Amino acid sequence: MKYEIPVTRTQNPKPRPADESQLGFAKYFTDHMFVMEYDVGKGWHSFRIVPHAPFLIEPASAVLHYAQMMFEGMKAYRKPDGSVQLFRPDMNLARMRTTCERMCMPEVPEDIFLQAIKELIEVDKDWIPSGKNTSLYIRPFLFGDEVSFSVLPAQHYKFMIILSPTGSYYAANDAGLTTARIYVQDKYIRAAQGGTGYAKVGGNYGGGMRASQDAIKYNCKDVLWLDAKEHKYVEEIGTSNAFFVINDEVITAPLDSGTILPGITRNSVIQLLTKWGIKVSERKLSIDEVEAAAADGSLKEIFATGTAAVISPIGWLCHNGTDMQVADGLVGPIAQRLYDDLYGMQSGVVEDYMGWTYPLGFKV
Ligand code: COI
Repeated sequence: MKYEIPVTRTQNPKPRPADESQLGFAKYFTDHMFVMEYDVGKGWHSFRIVPHAPFLIEPASAVLHYAQMMFEGMKAYRKPDGSVQLFRPDMNLARMRTTCERMCMPEVPEDIFLQAIKELIEVDKDWIPSGKNTSLYIRPFLFGDEVSFSVLPAQHYKFMIILSPTGSYYAANDAGLTTARIYVQDKYIRAAQGGTGYAKVGGNYGGGMRASQDAIKYNCKDVLWLDAKEHKYVEEIGTSNAFFVINDEVITAPLDSGTILPGITRNSVIQLLTKWGIKVSERKLSIDEVEAAAADGSLKEIFATGTAAVISPIGWLCHNGTDMQVADGLVGPIAQRLYDDLYGMQSGVVEDYMGWTYPLGFKV
């Protein structure tokens, strides 16, 4: 079904960022945003594209007190011929469905979701960067804004999409990558079984900030979470999933505990490694096994994967106050190959041999 989405254009377009190599992550936002509303009994309505601007929210809105919300992270890419594409939006839709079910929120229908993204990006298409390692980050989010202090699902919701031209989440070098230091967190936990670890909700990140502050104190970029029960098995990194290369096996935490975010990049990496004939296992991996592998030289690489992080190699783990170097501390060959093919397909410089890209049907 095709919806009518009226556009109110900004009267004050913002200056574009001058230097695409300094975009960073979500420092700039485009001129417009998409908004729609939901009422129980009425469904989704009032679709609109309006200038990106602060909006009013009633102080007693449920989300400000009980955090009934979710968000997604996606990117749009400008190909060398100027055409614009998304990457596996069906996966974001599927994850959004799971999250909405967990949070008792209304589903966002696939047709309006895809139409809204396409039309919003077309309005702001001259914001899509074209420099190395850049893309247009898409942040859809949904929250309950009923005025209510009852701890019950809201009766009214807002869904919005905002856009940000971005570069690398962690600093990159000319080959697109550099290594980061990560802090192994064994005091606080991110998610327990039965909780919301598998859902993309703000509370998972808000609850992680105390741990990220510890990481920063130790000069680390982010946190490696261990499992909630035994504080023993590696789970994920603050913003991303984690992969470990030990001998010829690439290992990542399995999803069956319900404590791991099912990353779209995670899934893509597993499929690419399988296609390339590299052994990849979704299995429990203890921090002791990682440290033993580092000590005997069989730990070859660690890298993070995510929409924002793309492929981010880890050069050092900081655990119990000591630094553990990952192999030579440099970007490993598997991470580099994954980055080259994945970002290459996304940005259209490598042919999409996995059928993952989703053309939006217009050019910049
Ligand atoms: C993304 O990769 O899109 C995310 O949502 C991670 C974010 C918390 C930085």
